[in-house]
Amino acid sequence: MGKIEIIRGDITNSAVDAIVNAANCSLLGGGGVDGAIHRAAGRELLEECRTLHGCETGKAKITKGYKLPAKYVIHTPGPIWHGGRGGEEELLASCYRSCLTLASENGCKTVDFPSISTGVYHFPLDRATRIAVSTIKAYLDGHEEIERVRMVCFDERTREQYALVLSEYGD
Ligand code: APR
Repeated sequence: MGKIEIIRGDITNSAVDAIVNAANCSLLGGGGVDGAIHRAAGRELLEECRTLHGCETGKAKITKGYKLPAKYVIHTPGPIWHGGRGGEEELLASCYRSCLTLASENGCKTVDFPSISTGVYHFPLDRATRIAVSTIKAYLDGHEEIERVRMVCFDERTREQYALVLSEYGD
């Protein structure tokens, strides 16, 4: 089974087959990691995104990486946290599954994720990390083609939380 790693860093530096972008439904850029990825990839990324006509929360769409060291960018709008009674948890799990499915379909062996929805979208970090790690592990269990998934954490608090949850899986 492919492995999961937790690293601290800036996902725009990831030289992997695909990085995931925590986007919004317009796919036309924004702040946070979305803004960083668009700035690093250059304007051709936005030009390709314009042809995609948006994306539903929990689903994902793939583009080239352009000036990024990553070959592809997989864009997924995470759920905005509204207290947890609106299916946010299932939608977040769906983001991870949708991205990994697209990665498999496009022959990606290495995939880097940011911590989807735990920034501007205010998804509680402890809940989001459990959903991310359990969903990624379940996917890797049945998909040998993905060799490595990394959670690229932008700050120490996020890294610690992912490392803690992953350690509970005996990794
Ligand atoms: N590399 C890795 N992670 C990053 C980077 C980066 N360069 N920049 C920010 N992050 C982290 C944040 O610290 C947070 O842990 O990504 C995580 C997700 O935060 P956001 O980028 O705010 O994404 P999200 O909470 O999903 O909100 C999405 O924000 O930027 C807008 O257009 C985006 O409307 C969408 C919304």
